Amino acid sequence: MGIPEKISKRAAELRKLIDRHDYRYYVLDAPSIPDAEYDKLFRELADLEAQYPDLIVPESPTQRVGATPLDSFAKIEHTTPMLSLSNAFDEAEVRAFDKRVRDHLDFAGIIDYAADPKFDGVAVSLIYRNGKLFRGGTRGDGNVGEDVTANLRTIKAIPLKLGESVPGDFVVRGEVLMFKKDFLQLNRDQAGRGEKEFVNPRNAAAGSLRQLDPKITATRPLRFFAYGAHFSDEKDEEHSAKLPSTHRKVLDHLEKLKIPVCREGEVVRGPDGLLAYYEKMNRRREKLPYDIDGVVYRVNENMLQIALGYVARAPRFSLAHKFAAEEATRITGEYLPLDISPRAEGYESVW
Ligand code: IVH
Repeated sequence: MGIPEKISKRAAELRKLIDRHDYRYYVLDAPSIPDAEYDKLFRELADLEAQYPDLIVPESPTQRVGATPLDSFAKIEHTTPMLSLSNAFDEAEVRAFDKRVRDHLDFAGIIDYAADPKFDGVAVSLIYRNGKLFRGGTRGDGNVGEDVTANLRTIKAIPLKLGESVPGDFVVRGEVLMFKKDFLQLNRDQAGRGEKEFVNPRNAAAGSLRQLDPKITATRPLRFFAYGAHFSDEKDEEHSAKLPSTHRKVLDHLEKLKIPVCREGEVVRGPDGLLAYYEKMNRRREKLPYDIDGVVYRVNENMLQIALGYVARAPRFSLAHKFAAEEATRITGEYLPLDISPRAEGYESVW
């Protein structure tokens, strides 16, 4: 059955509207329409797709929850391994890291570092093939993880299609997590149904991502923050050359592609800058809407990262500076709003 042009146009328009509302709700944390209106748009699209099945494309918002339950997760091999980070727990270790970096580069000046929160969630790797979410997996042993694509597709903060077309296999690495307020609500709901409550947001995120039935994952309020990206296909070098030249700029680029990036990251100078960032985040920690267990430092310039390389299975250019372990996460229910400025400026123009 041919699809009248008016109908396919309307379907495309509805997809765009729904994607935009999902983005405002799940990434910016700033809903733009009442739930009832959103549901109406969603139903209109689902009805059109039911009437004209040829309209259905994998990246349609109606296709987030699709697949039937799995018997077990397939294995997924990471073309670039998901490594771990060296840890530091005190000032001396941070200064030693900076010294190692400068010694290795034979550089006496001050290094620019990108500093980001260390999210307390579950590490995942997403592959966008020609701009569409193709596959996603957990870290596993770093080389082989579990294929949790069907579950990741249910997370509305993760775009099924990037905001701009990106060629080849674009790999986005980041963390799936649960916001504290959503965790509290989930536990209230679990208790109300007489079901088991989760110990902490990390635990709830991990358990939700490892459900064999994506319909269950879809009911769990999972979020995602990206902390890195690279290309992994035969045209790797050609494509990679188009990636921005610093970690911070790569993250800014991901934001343009509609991939959620945490706004607490900063570029700081030298070890004093690192330590000041650590103290600041330690003070903010309790007020943040999500759990963090430390901060992550990276040499900001990609060229310098390449020059530094890896030692054993950890990058020489990066360090995790851990907070002292808390007895239990103190969840107060009162959090800072998500900071959506100033990098959020210009969001609308992308759509
Ligand atoms: S960078 C080479 N940045 O911490 C490894 N990791 O040991 C690149 N994590 O399980 C990781 N927040 O999932 C990086 N802002 C952040 C992070 C972060 C959390 C996790 C990561 C991994 C562990 C690294």
